[in-house]
This record gives sequence, C-alpha cells and structure tokens, in this order.
Amino acid sequence: MNIKKVVVIGSGTMGSGIAAQLCNANVPVTLLDLKTEISEKAKNKIFESRPPLLIDKSKIDNIKVGNIEDNFDLVEQADWIVEAVVERIDIKHKLYEKISKARKSDSIISSNTSTIPLKVLSEKMSEKDKKDFCITHFFNPVRYMGLLEIVSEDINDIRKIDFLKTFCEESLGKGVIICKDTPGFLGNRVGVYAMQVAMTEAIKMDLSIEEADAIFGRPMGVPKTGVFGLYDLIGIDLMADVLKSFIKELPASDVFHAVAKEIPLVKNLIKTGYTGRKGKGGFYRMNKQDGKKVLEAIDLKTGNYSISKKIDLNIDDKVSLKDLVSRNDKYGKYAWSVISKIILYASSLIPDVSKDYNNIDEAMRLGFNWTRGPFEMLEELGVKYFVEKENKLKLNNFIKNMYDKKVDSFYGKRQIYTNLETLGKVKQLAKVQKDNNSAFTYEYKNYKIVEFNTKANTLDYDSMDALKKASDKNLIIINEGMQFSAGVNLNYVMDFAKEKNWKAIEKFIHHFQMTCKQLKYSNNLVIAAPSGLALGGGFEVLVQSDYVVSHTNIVTGLVETLVGLIPAGGGTKQLLWRWIDTEEAKKDPDFAPQKVFDIIGYGKTASSPVEAKPLRFLLEKDKSIMNRNKLLSVAENLINEKKDGYKPPKEPIFRLSGSQVRDKMFETLENLFKEKKILEHGMEVGKKLAFVLSGGNTTLEKELSEDDMYALELEAFVQLIQMEKTQARIKHTLSTGKPLIN
Ligand code: NAI
Repeated sequence: MNIKKVVVIGSGTMGSGIAAQLCNANVPVTLLDLKTEISEKAKNKIFESRPPLLIDKSKIDNIKVGNIEDNFDLVEQADWIVEAVVERIDIKHKLYEKISKARKSDSIISSNTSTIPLKVLSEKMSEKDKKDFCITHFFNPVRYMGLLEIVSEDINDIRKIDFLKTFCEESLGKGVIICKDTPGFLGNRVGVYAMQVAMTEAIKMDLSIEEADAIFGRPMGVPKTGVFGLYDLIGIDLMADVLKSFIKELPASDVFHAVAKEIPLVKNLIKTGYTGRKGKGGFYRMNKQDGKKVLEAIDLKTGNYSISKKIDLNIDDKVSLKDLVSRNDKYGKYAWSVISKIILYASSLIPDVSKDYNNIDEAMRLGFNWTRGPFEMLEELGVKYFVEKENKLKLNNFIKNMYDKKVDSFYGKRQIYTNLETLGKVKQLAKVQKDNNSAFTYEYKNYKIVEFNTKANTLDYDSMDALKKASDKNLIIINEGMQFSAGVNLNYVMDFAKEKNWKAIEKFIHHFQMTCKQLKYSNNLVIAAPSGLALGGGFEVLVQSDYVVSHTNIVTGLVETLVGLIPAGGGTKQLLWRWIDTEEAKKDPDFAPQKVFDIIGYGKTASSPVEAKPLRFLLEKDKSIMNRNKLLSVAENLINEKKDGYKPPKEPIFRLSGSQVRDKMFETLENLFKEKKILEHGMEVGKKLAFVLSGGNTTLEKELSEDDMYALELEAFVQLIQMEKTQARIKHTLSTGKPLIN
C-alpha cells in the first residue's frame, strides 16, 4: 500500500486546506469541484492565503485542478480519495456512488464530515466499499491545526486504517486520534460543549463578553480568543449548523441539549449578517470613531455595541486552577461553573465514546490549542476537592468510582495516541527542576531540556538563567506551548524604562548576550527545536545554537525594528556573520552588511523553513520536520550523531568598512524618508542599525571581535530604548499586539 496520488473532491475551506497540506508533503494532488473555475479559484486562494497554507509557494503546481464531470477519471488512479464537499448527505451519497464505480480496489475513501455519522455516510455502500471507507476529520486551518480524527468501524480493513494513520502522522504531520463513530467525535463533542457552556453561563451570570473571554482564556489554558472571540473566528452561522446537528444526533438525555438551545441574540446576529470576522462583525466588531478604528463588543442583553473594555482580573498569568475556581467573586464563580461542567461532561463520555480519557485531553490540545484537557484539570484540582467543593454535583460513574476508591491522582501516561517518543511523554519520565519562574529544566538520558513557560514564551532574566545553567550538558531547547518564543519580554523591559533604570536594561541585555555566547561556545551541543513563533529574542536563541530542528510551521525573523529597537542579543551580529560567510561577500566586503541592513531594517520574517533558508535564518545543516511530535527525538538523534568529537565553533573576526558602507545605508534611509516610507524615528532606528552593521568607527584594515560586535549592539539598544518614540511604539505593540508602522 502506498499513497502517491490523491484526489480531493470539494475545493472549499477544508478541501483546499487538505490539498495544500498534501502539496506540503510533496504528494501530487488534484482538487475537483463542480466546475474547474471553482477549484482554480481555490488554488489561487491557497497561493494567496495568510497565514500561508503552503510551506513552499513554488510547489503550488503540485496541485492540479479540475471538475467532477470531465476529470473524474483521475479518481481511478488515486490511492486516496478525500471527500470534502458541502455537509449534505444527498450530495455525499451521490458522490460515493460515482467514486465507487471509478476507484481502484486498493484505494481508500474518506469523508471530512464534521457532523454526519460514518454509518449514515456509508449506508448505501457495498461491503467492499464500507471496508475501505472512513472519516478523516481535519481541523481548520489544516496546515496549522494539529488534530486529525480518523473515525473507523469494525468493518474497516484495519491494515488500511493503520496505514492511513501512519501516513497522516508521518507525511502530513498530524496528531492522529482514532475515534469511534459518535456525534462530534472527540474534539468537537467536548470543545463545542465547552464553548456553549462558557457562552450560556456568561449570559446566566451576567458577565460581559470581555469578562467571559478574560476568564475562559489564558487563566484556564484556553487561547486568548476565549469563547466569544473564537465564535467570531469560526463563524457564528457555522457554529449554529454544528449545534443543529448535535441536537439531531444526540439522545434527549445528553446534557449537551441544555446548552445547545437557540439564543435569540445569536439568531439575530446571523440574520443581520453579523456572522463573525468573515461577516460584518460578530460578538466583537471593528468600527470607526473620529476616523480611527476601534474594537467594539456586544452587550449580551441589549445587543448594542460599545467600545471593548480591557479586563483586569488582577491575577498572575500562572494562576493555579484551584486559586481561580476558589475566588470569591463573579469571576471565580464563573470559572468554577464552566470548568466543573466541562469536567463532568467529558468524564461522562468514558467509556462509551472513548475508553481513553487521555485522548480527549490530547484532542483538546491539538484541535483547540488548550494547554490542558478536562482530565488534566481534574487531576490538577484533585478528585476529592472537585467532588467536595460544593457537594451538589451530579456525579457520573467515572468520577464516582474514583472518589469512592479515594483515588486522587489517576492520570498515568500522556499522548497514548502515538508511538513516537514525544516531549509530552519524556516530561513525565525526566528529572525536573521547577525552581525557575520562566522556564523548566528537565534531565533525560544524556541531555537536558529547557522549556520556556511564560506567556508566549517571552524571555527575561530567568529564561536566560535557565539556559545558562543547562548548558553544562547537551541541551535541547523545546516546548509544548504554541510559540517557541515571541521575543524578549517587553513588559519586563518597559518596567525598567518607566523608572528610567537604563542600567538594569543594560544588565539584562548583556546577560542575554553572554548566555547566547555560552550556548554557542559551551563544550556541549545545543539544539533549538522551535515551533510557532521564534521571533526577535527567540530567533537570537536559535541562531546561536549549534543546530536547529524546526517544525515546518515556524514564523521566524528579527522584528525588533518594528518597535523601534534593534536585535541586541547577538542576532544582528550572528546574521551578519552568516551573510559574511557567503560567496558574494568574498567579492564585496559591503555585501553582507547591506543585505542584513535590508533584512533587519524591514523586520523580514519567514513563515516556514523553506522561506527561512534564503534569508539565512536557517542553514542547510538544520532540519525541518512536519510532525511536531517528532522534534524531540530528531534532536536527540542529532546529539547522538554529533556528540563524539564535538568542538565548539571558532570565534569569528569581523572586517567591516565603517563609514564606507554606512554612507550607502544612510543614502538608502534618506531615499526612504523622501518617499515618506519612513518618518524621523524610523531614520534614527535605521541609523543605529547601520552603525552596528558597519562595525562602528572602524575600517577594513581593523579586526573586530565578537565581543566588539556585542558591545555595539548593546550600545545601540540602550540608546534606542531611551527614546520616547521607541517607548510609545512598544506600548502600542503591548496593548494591541501589533506594531505601530512608521
Ligand atoms: P465549503 O462550503 O467551504 O466548500 C464546499 C465545496 O464543495 C464548495 O467548493 C462546493 O462548490 C463544493 N461542492 C458542492 N457539491 C459538490 C459536488 N457534488 N462535487 C464537488 N464539489 C462540490 O465547505 P467546507 O467548510 O470546506 O466543508 C467541507 C466539509 O468539511 C463538510 O463536510 C464540513 O462539515 C467539513 N468540515 C468543515 C470544517 C470547517 O471548519 N469549515 C471543519 C471540519 C470539517
């Protein structure tokens, strides 16, 4: 069995996402729709998509397009036929009849349905077709969401299902969980229930949508969109359809019904075109006030919009679940009400929906980006605490059993859906050190692991300390959170700036530099294994490691200039050195500084390893991996392959032309200023960057050490942070999440 050619039928949101991911895996794929124009348009949309669905845009022609009348003969050659047409059973049945006649006997057919049961989809199929048919339920956007649920039945050819699972894990990089044929499978059954609970409880308890999102967000380990933000993102109309199907499929006794009733406000939003971000707006909307864009939030009672308020819960980012639910205010009550209901519902599904509670947690992690699932929440609270907190919960067998047997800690192994040696599994086996506020250190086999654990893994003094201490052994820098690191913690820096404590900032940046230097020159291997954002300081850590084992979904680069700073943790110096180490630079000493001036000046980023290489953010020696679960084992193998005879690199010597190349850069800046592409402050930042990249007051005859370059970076950084304009830009970024352009 092999999957060498795939046909995807239906080129909408999901069909195009699946086709793009097959293209990313270098598998030739054809997208068929009712008309070729539709699939052609879908292909263009894939090319233009942001964030990009393709890892390498130049491979777009691996995706062929056609229509189901003229090009159906392609189904005959396909090893796997994926149906991703509209959620209409009559249309799907008709299509299966056609596929059945055309397909070769050893092929696999799957549907991407999110709501129609497998037995209903396959009811009209022959026994042979039923054997080869399953549901492959991908999540949107396909490239970025880790979860794939494969729904199979006893009748299936189990070898084929296993084969498909391995293919989707290895080639498409998915976390594949095999599910039973029950409504909503695992992810949506619990995820949609959780969203509905969060929404209905907010209405019942009189919370504003901002308040609900602030609780049912980071404090609970849920992405910051919360519930109402997520509703807007998915589409309010789409959610309504999903709910209708749950109402239809679930028995009347299921408590899902209690939270799935139609809400007049929601009905009205859909009717008036407020279907979420794709429509006129949703629970939140962008509006204009005095010519400025403002974010507004809906009032759940009146349906009127007013300017969205920032909610201060007055809690630490790392608040424990117990502290959260035991708060004696409306926020604590809301958190308890929502969390207890989710835990009760998820545990009521064991064993009928799944015998493995662990798979539900992992589905929530992979499909909804939660940091922990309901069973991990229960473990964290403790069964006894959970049951006795109110003494009025209606317990199900799962919880009652554990409570009666006085089992408080039940969890056991993680990530049992995969055979890979994942970070999640290793963390349970390794010796752990948790005395650092910003990172955990693990010791395992012949290496250490540092896992950052701040918000978006932003870096501060403690993060650096953890790295420094762990470099006494071979080291892998990796994490389970969504981002590798969004950069230096700007809140941390701004706290010092507010007090005009420039010395403290200087000390921190110097510590950052010296940590990265130690990583580079320690006698042990350092491997960075990023996924998600590796920006600014995050990039500086990986660019000064020995090797990078990168997930294909990274966004990386040096973006400091966007907030009026320059990279000063060694990033400017290291990228410059990488460009000095090229053929072009041998011919022209000013080539590398100018190239890097352009890359850092514009804050260029790469959104895959393929895009990262031409910028020299990653090198040929680095590895890129489709399945995030494999990062740790690939990094471990690399340590074992390279450790014998490992010698740290030699310190570089820089020969730069000083004012000669700086004048050229200044000229570029003058032109940008004349064209109004940058303003005065942009000029200032550009000049500081130029000063560092040109080597300062030097000439080609002089030699500059790495420490000289570090010193230039540091000086520029400390000068820039003292500028009011820079501080204003940082504040803007911290409050909006976006850079202030110009
Ligand atoms: P969509 O509405 O974006 O696209 C459906 C496509 O199917 C359209 O391009 C339409 O022209 C085409 N189509 C309709 N009848 C066809 C036929 N007879 N032959 C060929 N093409 C035909 O739908 P979307 O969102 O991509 O959903 C597709 C499937 O994936 C559905 O079963 C849906 O339940 C499921 N799904 C959707 C998710 C989502 O977030 N949108 C998530 C997971 C599953």
